[in-house]
Amino acid sequence: MVLRRHVADNVEAFRRWYGDPEVARLARYQDTPMREDEVNRFFQIRALGPESLTMAIHERATDRLIGTCAFSQLDGENGSAMYHITIGEKDTWGRGYGTEATRLMLDHAFGTLGLHRIALSVFEFNERAIRAYATCGFLTEGRAREAVWRDGRWWDELSMSVLAPEWRARQRPGARGPAGSAVSSPGRPATVTKVAGTPS
Ligand SMILES: CC(C)(COP(=O)(O)OP(=O)(O)OC[C@H]1O[C@@H](n2cnc3c(N)ncnc32)[C@H](O)[C@@H]1OP(=O)(O)O)[C@@H](O)C(=O)NCCC(=O)NCCS
Repeated sequence: MVLRRHVADNVEAFRRWYGDPEVARLARYQDTPMREDEVNRFFQIRALGPESLTMAIHERATDRLIGTCAFSQLDGENGSAMYHITIGEKDTWGRGYGTEATRLMLDHAFGTLGLHRIALSVFEFNERAIRAYATCGFLTEGRAREAVWRDGRWWDELSMSVLAPEWRARQRPGARGPAGSAVSSPGRPATVTKVAGTPS
């Protein structure tokens, strides 16, 4: 797995990923996929925008583009940002890529950008995501009770975060650390606009 900057052609993959009902179910407040014009706008702002902190996730062996991960709401004053990840190529789910990409992004956030806190929100039924985040050191710090209606019932939305000292403690020899690879300059620290209705 390797993280690269997005290129304009990646919008086609974004349309496929964010147009997929299964991805929408896991990652959107609305239980319907994004419209094409929404995806285009989302891609332009989030993936290509000058203030973007978004990276493309590629399979290392094949260089296949499989997903995207990002920081948003960068708050330099308080040293915090929100983290988002979508692996859109579903045949690659559960192979460790999400965990590895998240580790690389945290390494960049704490090691390079000097941030103090990375937070995210995730629906409680998204067990795969929660496990990947927990493996990277995210702790559940709160839950918005019954914030999401899906599959005929209410679900909580979890708030998770990891702090720089916690991350550093995990980097010590013997602690569960990052995968060992590095991300090259995922972006400039700047505020990124959150696109409404898209938590990841
Ligand atoms: C969430 C996501 C980033 C995780 O990345 P991934 O590469 O699929 O996950 P990983 O292989 O790194 O880790 C998955 C973990 O969940 C476990 N897992 C895999 N399939 C699972 C399933 N169906 N149910 C529960 N846990 C599962 C794995 O065992 C692993 O945990 P472990 O390391 O403790 O064994 C990715 O699946 C994705 O983008 N999904 C769609 C969009 C989404 O949900 N985004 C997040 C919104 S908050």
